[in-house]
Amino acid sequence: MSPKVDPDIQKINQIKGELHANILAHNYQIPEVHAVADVIGDSLELALAARDTDVDVLIVCGVRFMAETAKLLNPEKRVYIPIPDAGCPLADFLTPELIRDSRQKYPDAAVVVYVNSSAACKSVADIVCTSGNAVTIVKSLPQSRIIFGPDANLASYVREQVPEKEIITIPVDGHCYVHQQFSLEDIRNARLIGGTILAHPECPEIIRHHADIVASTGRMIRIIGEHEERVWHIFTEEGMVMRLRSLFPDKEFHSVQSAVCKDMRKTTIGDIIRCLESLQGEIILDQDSSESARRSLDRMLEASS
Ligand code: 13P
Ligand code: SF4
Repeated sequence: MSPKVDPDIQKINQIKGELHANILAHNYQIPEVHAVADVIGDSLELALAARDTDVDVLIVCGVRFMAETAKLLNPEKRVYIPIPDAGCPLADFLTPELIRDSRQKYPDAAVVVYVNSSAACKSVADIVCTSGNAVTIVKSLPQSRIIFGPDANLASYVREQVPEKEIITIPVDGHCYVHQQFSLEDIRNARLIGGTILAHPECPEIIRHHADIVASTGRMIRIIGEHEERVWHIFTEEGMVMRLRSLFPDKEFHSVQSAVCKDMRKTTIGDIIRCLESLQGEIILDQDSSESARRSLDRMLEASS
């Protein structure tokens, strides 16, 4: 008897074939979304997949800036987000006006914006970075003064890794509420169990300093795959722990309680079916600002290749 195929998965695969579509899903998405994804990855890996794809339609399961980045890097494709209001509260900390004001104050500085930002912010930046390449990008620039936003924690991580440069954070208090909540108590609890602590660069300085390794979600996967260690504590969004458990069923993963990104959690398999059937939620960007936002992203991909 042939194995039973889930009817939702069957339906999605059928529509994907008809539309010549691919589904890109961030590592934080829930397992049922990962089950229908063609590419699963961190922000940088999804951006590269969007740039290099030869399909006609991309469905981006994640938050809005990820779908916007896909559209910017491959404007000929039709890009959809199943939940159009899935945003990133960290991205909302930064505005083009804040960037313009800082440029006036520090005219000799380069502006680096974290990919967790709007297309409008990317359009007035010099270059974009992700958590996986922020240090490489900042090092690659000739300027010794860098305006960096919107994540003050990632900025402080870059400051530590590139001490020869001055990093000016805009705004001073930009942060991700999911990573900001981790405490020393969480570190102590992890140490009681034993194993290795992996923290995302969006974590506050105190958490990064007590962690064993600081890494983007994509690098976390590579590190765990390369190490014998069995027990891991994952200081990032809880969806990552589900992803790691499915990739490494023989290892033990501990999450930090209630580290849930509400926006990342919004997309379900039903939303993907609705999106594919109705083709609603298309990403349409302002043409003028898209050109300069694309240049900022292209510079990042060139500097990190
Ligand atoms: P990664 O690029 O490491 O996947 O991070 C994206 C993100 O939003 C972290 O909260
Ligand atoms: Fe934004 Fe934080 Fe959610 Fe990542 S986890 S998408 S940074 S709010």
